[in-house]
Amino acid sequence: MQLLRDAGCELIVPLEFGPHGGRELEKRMQGMDAILATLDRFTVDTFKSRDAASLKVVSRWGVGFDSIDVPAATQAGVIVTYTPDLLNETVADFAFALILTLARHVHESHQAMSNGLWQPLWGSNVFNKTLGLIGCGRIGQAVARRARGFHMRLMAYDIHPSAEAASIGVKFVPLEELLASSDFVSLHAAATTDNHDMIGEAQLRQMKPTAFMVNTARGTLVDESALELALREGRLAGAALDTFKTEPLPAGHPLRRAPNVLLTSHHASWTIETGQQVSLCAAQAIVDAQQGRRPRFAVNPAVFDSPALRAVLV
Ligand code: GLV
Repeated sequence: MQLLRDAGCELIVPLEFGPHGGRELEKRMQGMDAILATLDRFTVDTFKSRDAASLKVVSRWGVGFDSIDVPAATQAGVIVTYTPDLLNETVADFAFALILTLARHVHESHQAMSNGLWQPLWGSNVFNKTLGLIGCGRIGQAVARRARGFHMRLMAYDIHPSAEAASIGVKFVPLEELLASSDFVSLHAAATTDNHDMIGEAQLRQMKPTAFMVNTARGTLVDESALELALREGRLAGAALDTFKTEPLPAGHPLRRAPNVLLTSHHASWTIETGQQVSLCAAQAIVDAQQGRRPRFAVNPAVFDSPALRAVLV
């Protein structure tokens, strides 16, 4: 905020926690030059809205930009930026925390202790087990590096297998093989229109009943009803979810009552240290555009050469 204020920006900070979207977001955009967004939903209508007429930049705090219709932004001449790389290690720490917690029932034991009980629980080993990574880009590889320290066998499914991942011992396999062989499946794929519900009923049935699933990527990757049923029927040992199709997850959502589930509030990237870096990077993109420079991490660099570009760059 200080970086933006020092650059002469006037800041409007909504009091309500997001994600914002629809008419409510449009109304907030009146007169705005830039928006520093989290998971707020920017659709084609948002960009076409008269309320967005002065909008020049959407700077996404984070790495996933699936909540933003990027082609619509480009068409409207709006620059979209994000903050890649900064949160890889932080999200990987969290994914690993979830793996360990699930396997050893740390959360359940804590809950029992809080309820006045003393209840030792049998768990599963993590070391020497097989970890399947669905999506093995920057974050998946950071998880793989941690798993190596636990002597885990590493396999991954990715539509773009990377040589870098292979060089740290990740074996790329078809999805069916990964699901059938993994003791832990961790999701690290970016959400696209092609991978909606890629983990559905059929895929869950391919997993071992002793296997655990961790999702710190996007809720859209998983058919949540199919997952809830698999947990209820004991076809899966457990699941840890940090991301959901609807966020915040509604209070009465059936997943909240599913057995062997560990739920967190989409905060895998939230550490003080990483948060400061991400915030600075997201703010810098706005300052750059305001001062006539191309922001470094544009998601839609084609916009720079478009006659529709709204920011005045030198
Ligand atoms: C968090 O989910 C992000 O996309 O940065």
